[in-house]
Amino acid sequence: MTLDQTRDPLLDSKVLRFRVGADCTNVVRYSDLNGFREISVAATCVIGLQWGDEAKGKLVDLLAPRHDIVVRYQGGANAGHTVVSGKEVYKLHHIPSGILSSSIMNVIAPGVVIEPNMLIKEIEGLEARGVQPRKNLMISERAHVVMPWHFVEDRATNRAVIAGESIGTTNRGIGPCYRDKVGRTHAVRITDLYSDDLRTKIKEIVDAKRILLSPLAEPAELETLDADKIYDQCIAWSKSLGSLAADTTNYLLDELDAGKKLLMEGAQGSLLDIDHGTFPFVTSSNASGVGVSGGSGVPARWIDNVIGVAKAYSTRVGGGPFPTELNDATGQKIRDIGREYGTTTGRPRRCGWFDAVAVRYTARLSGIHYLSLMMMDVLSHFDELYVCVAYELHGERITRFPCRAEDLKHCKPVYEKLPGWNQDVSGVRKLEDFPLNARKYIDRISELISVPVGVLSVGPDREQTIFLI
Ligand code: IMP
Repeated sequence: MTLDQTRDPLLDSKVLRFRVGADCTNVVRYSDLNGFREISVAATCVIGLQWGDEAKGKLVDLLAPRHDIVVRYQGGANAGHTVVSGKEVYKLHHIPSGILSSSIMNVIAPGVVIEPNMLIKEIEGLEARGVQPRKNLMISERAHVVMPWHFVEDRATNRAVIAGESIGTTNRGIGPCYRDKVGRTHAVRITDLYSDDLRTKIKEIVDAKRILLSPLAEPAELETLDADKIYDQCIAWSKSLGSLAADTTNYLLDELDAGKKLLMEGAQGSLLDIDHGTFPFVTSSNASGVGVSGGSGVPARWIDNVIGVAKAYSTRVGGGPFPTELNDATGQKIRDIGREYGTTTGRPRRCGWFDAVAVRYTARLSGIHYLSLMMMDVLSHFDELYVCVAYELHGERITRFPCRAEDLKHCKPVYEKLPGWNQDVSGVRKLEDFPLNARKYIDRISELISVPVGVLSVGPDREQTIFLI
């Protein structure tokens, strides 16, 4: 087999080629009349298939050395990515998970909303531990800034209840910042931090926000919105972040033309996608695979390898329907063993069995080539395991993920029982070494979501990862 460095074989050949599969080594296999060929992958994406927290950071960290650039393209400081390197544990919120390798460039693209205080704290935290993020980090001038009024608005609207339940946001100002991005009039982008009319802009927005927010926010919260102080804060941010701000859109397009390899790091999970998730109990960005191009500026034709990441069970933080949730000792057992507490907010995560209806939906939506199944070790000590294979909604059995949160709330999971393996698998390093029942569990999940399993994870360390392709 030869490695054909052309990026798009369909463009340079009249011979029809069939895609056979992509793997973790940045190669897509095609077959044509001349036999099998391999071509170099331009952009690989790592996408969460559940409600976030699928351990995407670990996978990105492992794949990063095979790439030149890691790109965060949506979400903001609501995300919490944990990367474990040796005995060191790094918790990242904005900064892409490739930051620990000095030879890799890390890009925060236009689709991310940046909270500068938090970003600066993250940078300083890394510097205090000997990492030098200022050398290999770029932030888009087009990215929007989470401003102090967005926190006030997030807290105020989070107190409101939709259909008897609060969204339970992370209170990081994410929704209000995206709302202003779409509304345009009151938006602040990174590039605005350097503009001559920044003081006027801030004053105008603060005046408007104090009026708009007065029916919702507490007077003490409104008092914090002081235009002069916010302006001074913006100047401090621009001084700290100035050297990192760049036109990342053109940078990425240039690097792709030059043959560089990109790793696109999704935040949150596909079920939290603003358009395709469990609306309104979602985040405010396209957290599924459909968001990669829009958020990064990388055209879809370059994206040729999509890895879906799911835990071997399910978790959710915040409000919203969760059919396989376990409000019992089993749920608590998963929470305890899996240390299921939010990286960003510390909130206990809701835990439940693997939901194959939901993951089949998101695997198709995100167009994944293969699955990375995480946290297999957490299920080590169970006599039996359950996988949701269908829902029962108003007496009818359905296998299609419903579009209304209200319907999902009424869906009762139809479970298939599988035998547990009752054996610690955290030391397993080869597929053959998994207990038979664990192999059966993996195979059944793959079958139910119609996607091959390409990666298995049995613990937080880099070595606790088994690559199958
Ligand atoms: P927001 O993104 O802060 O607006 O929160 C909206 C919903 O998304 C809430 O239910 C959050 O708990 C959830 N959420 C946001 N970011 C994450 C994440 O990184 N992991 C898991 N859930 C998240």
